[in-house]
Amino acid sequence: MADYLKMDAAQRQQELQSLQEQYQQYLAKGLHLDMSRGKPCTQQLDLSMDMLSLNDYTAADGTDSRNYGVLEGLPEARAFFAELMGVSPSEVIIGGNSSLNMMFYLVELGYRKGFADSPRPWAKEDTIKFICPVPGYDRHFRVTEYFGFELLSVPMTPEGPDMDAVEQLCKDPTVKGIWCVPVYSNPDGYTYSPETVRRLATMETAAPDFKIIWDDAYCVHHLTDHPQSTPNILEECRAAGHEMRPLMQCSTSKITFPGAGVAAVAACEENVQYILQHMMPMLISYDKMNQLRHVRYLKNKQGVLEHMKKHRAILQPKFQLIQQTLEQQLEPCGEIAWWTKPHGGYFISLYLQDGCAKRVIQLCKQAGVVLTDAGAAYPKGIDPNDHHIRIAPSFPSLEELETASLLLTLCVRIAALEKLLGASVSA
Ligand SMILES: Cc1ncc(COP(=O)(O)O)c(C=O)c1O
Repeated sequence: MADYLKMDAAQRQQELQSLQEQYQQYLAKGLHLDMSRGKPCTQQLDLSMDMLSLNDYTAADGTDSRNYGVLEGLPEARAFFAELMGVSPSEVIIGGNSSLNMMFYLVELGYRKGFADSPRPWAKEDTIKFICPVPGYDRHFRVTEYFGFELLSVPMTPEGPDMDAVEQLCKDPTVKGIWCVPVYSNPDGYTYSPETVRRLATMETAAPDFKIIWDDAYCVHHLTDHPQSTPNILEECRAAGHEMRPLMQCSTSKITFPGAGVAAVAACEENVQYILQHMMPMLISYDKMNQLRHVRYLKNKQGVLEHMKKHRAILQPKFQLIQQTLEQQLEPCGEIAWWTKPHGGYFISLYLQDGCAKRVIQLCKQAGVVLTDAGAAYPKGIDPNDHHIRIAPSFPSLEELETASLLLTLCVRIAALEKLLGASVSA
């Protein structure tokens, strides 16, 4: 292998031909692999099965958790998430099985009714805009897109969103909030720096009811011995006189069971009371039996961290394998791609030369490996540079990952050569 950027056209043509021969061999294998979503694998799901053996459903204060009531969540569940999220129990609402569902609810609440600090419901504004650090989590963007908000992309950096751009955008009163995945971000795996958190907390916003949706989905999902974390956004905002600004989320989806875990929102008490008051017409209580199961099984933050070590033992080799394949197969080809090296979370971002991502996804798909759609990590599914691919290593087995990542790098090399040769050669 040699640097593609230094090859002449004839050498590139020759290399492309040899790669296409290899690609034909993959086509003949009839693969069926899915690396499209960040789902835990079966082995990870098996880790939490013992939790389901709980059969005493009386909470510490005597509440029969099998029955209606306690909308805000069982006291032990509020205490559990308060420790995890670094807030007080009275600043926590325990939800159902999905933090995304709670985020949707909160955006909808802003839209329908506004928040306690809103001059009027967001729906009454002529325009509503929301800041989307990109690449980001597709389903965040979809929530704000659903309500017809204008999505404002700002670039992600290894320190978090480009704060100069964020501060500039916040001078516009129609900008009502920002999506954030502060720890091991989806998809880059970056963790916000203390300076980014401080600037988010202290910045002036023209909208008096600006909200930071602080989705701490990966706060305990460490893959190294050096866990990353951020300063506490609620504390920082409070110190800056903006305690109404952050709405924090967390869930056990990737601790126990996605779709059957427990989610929580944390915010200042005024926000918590306001949210509860508006939830009341919607439901009598969330699933307290599941809250109790989780608290009894995981116990506390230390218990969660111990449990996460078992996940790490399964996930780390998968992340390592992808990193190794990318290094071995792509580095010698010169600057045709670069990728992130996360210390936790569920994803790796692979960046290609502009205009190559869709082609790579298409080549992989033709050969039976499904990756997240090109552009999925950008508002409206459009990556303006067509250069980003999200790799989700958790679900396939190591053996499947080896095949899939070799195929992926082969397709990256083919697409890079096609681009360098200026021709769209169909494989
Ligand atoms: C950043 C982020 N937030 C939220 C979710 C979904 O969480 P939940 O299962 O709690 O709805 C995901 C799932 O991939 C995610 O990556």
